[in-house]
Amino acid sequence: MARKFFVGGNFKMNGTIASIKEIVQNLNNATLDPNVEVVIAPPALYLLLVRDSIKNGVEVAAQNVWNKPNGAYTGEISVSQLKDSNINWTILGHSERRTILAESDEVVSSKTKFATENGVSVIWCCGESLAEREAGNTISVVSGQLEALKSQVSDWSRIVIAYEPIWAIGTGKVATTEQAQEVHAAIREWLKKEVSQKVADETRILYGGSVTEKNSKDLSKQPDIDGFLVGGASLKPAFVDIINSKQ
Ligand code: 13P
Repeated sequence: MARKFFVGGNFKMNGTIASIKEIVQNLNNATLDPNVEVVIAPPALYLLLVRDSIKNGVEVAAQNVWNKPNGAYTGEISVSQLKDSNINWTILGHSERRTILAESDEVVSSKTKFATENGVSVIWCCGESLAEREAGNTISVVSGQLEALKSQVSDWSRIVIAYEPIWAIGTGKVATTEQAQEVHAAIREWLKKEVSQKVADETRILYGGSVTEKNSKDLSKQPDIDGFLVGGASLKPAFVDIINSKQ
């Protein structure tokens, strides 16, 4: 089964009502490749604004979700609240949450389990720091993150993996096509060995980290790069060119 190319836009903690309306307008007016799945993740406060104004065919994701049905969890939003709002995706395990907010592998995995088991698909992020790469530990770090995920998750059909080397995020320092392909191939190999051939064949593995309209074409040609998770450039009109970069 061919994997549908996937481009996510992670707005992070950026935007205003006015600027987000502009991004939506730009996407609504653009011709987007129908063979690409597009999912945009505005800050929680603007999820409904985007949901209500984005055109059919573009999906909306939260940037985080909690691992309990409801209750006394101040500041969190629930899976059922997302579904109530017709939001069917969330990002989880982004390195900014793993590092700045100290989210452990276990917490990320339990949130992924709760979301996927309750009908919300997950863009699950992994990736190494610069020190880990320089120590030659990239594959073992990513494998460890995948191990933690596997220990809690059994249904992989609602998971898209985003490989985001931390040193490439927001730095303008994109991984080379070879560096990215090498890790993507290793992730796919891990899925084949540790989960199944079917999951390895069907799971989309996105690259994230300083993706722009200038480097996306080359990256998209790599056999194991099935799309992108775009940060800064998803706030700009050229996001459309990244969506349409797959030849
Ligand atoms: P940048 O594209 O701004 O480097 O961010 C990548 C990212 O973290 C997407 O989740």
